Amino acid sequence: MIFEAKDLKIYYRTKKGFVKAVDRISLTVKKGETVGLVGESGCGKSTLGQGLLKILPPKTFYGGSMKIEGEELISFSENKMREIRGKKIGMIFQDPMTSLNPIMRIEKLFYETLKTHEPEITEEEARERTAKVLEKVGIEPERMQEYSFQFSGGMRQRVMIALALVLNPILVIADEPTTSLDVIVQAQIMELLNELRQEYEMSMILITHDLGVVAEMADKICVMYAGQIVEEAINEKIYYEPKHPYTKLLLKSIPNTNIDDLELNYIPGSPPDLLKPPRGCRFAPRCPYKMEICETQEPKTFAVDNTHVKCWLYSEVKK
Ligand SMILES: Nc1ncnc2c1ncn2[C@@H]1O[C@H](COP(=O)(O)OP(=O)(O)O)[C@@H](O)[C@H]1O
Ligand SMILES: [Mg+2]
Repeated sequence: MIFEAKDLKIYYRTKKGFVKAVDRISLTVKKGETVGLVGESGCGKSTLGQGLLKILPPKTFYGGSMKIEGEELISFSENKMREIRGKKIGMIFQDPMTSLNPIMRIEKLFYETLKTHEPEITEEEARERTAKVLEKVGIEPERMQEYSFQFSGGMRQRVMIALALVLNPILVIADEPTTSLDVIVQAQIMELLNELRQEYEMSMILITHDLGVVAEMADKICVMYAGQIVEEAINEKIYYEPKHPYTKLLLKSIPNTNIDDLELNYIPGSPPDLLKPPRGCRFAPRCPYKMEICETQEPKTFAVDNTHVKCWLYSEVKK
């Protein structure tokens, strides 16, 4: 197993108490597998993504377990994490403008990155590696002399992808990699990512609020709601047979899907406050199928034909 989280908790420490942004999540990523992590804004996707690299505020609480190739990240020191970041786990962020240093030439940016993990590397070697990886993402190697602000949004995201790939990580976390781009560029970047992950045999956690975006790429989809995974299924399953009421609602918002057993055009209410999540099911306050038990007891996760669903509706397997 490349990556494995068990009962993972990531809580922000605030004056008002702990914000339970990731609360007892279990998740596995196999070699070469792409796992889509989907859910509305604020459900904890970025917290999970950044938590795996431990780049959250220093006082953040981590509980449970998260392992990369069997090594427990929670117990790793900051020094040890520096070796992991980039090298074992690469990250592609939503907005490359804020994560790429605009006053550094692309060439220098790559050199610095490579040097962190390979202190012996010469500028010449770094230049060669940079040229190669830029070519892979469709950028002319000559452009490494330029600064990131000289690139368009889509091109900047390509640079970001190249920067993640240059160290050849075994797992890449892509957090809303195309959200700030227009639709056509979005499709091109997704296609590029898809090709590259196959070529490099990388595993990937693809984070998005848009189920449509992961449709063609993910092998497995995890739906998050209020800090928890409420449904996990292989890609097609989630489209044709969504189980959790929340997943159905998410799918309803994509054109050309037919989820007819739900009479809802809007979801009443809003996601719960993660300082004080509801006692029972976190989705209960908004759920059209709510039962008595949902308000008092947290649902267990049930296995229903190849899908795992955290919902009391499935306590007795339904067909
Ligand atoms: N630094 C922080 N301190 C306290 N709460 C935070 C912090 N960052 C994010 N949160 C809260 O954690 C929850 C999850 O946020 P986030 O992981 O960014 O969600 P997503 O990426 O799914 O939109 C939200 O309720 C958000 O308000
Ligand atoms: Mg986010």
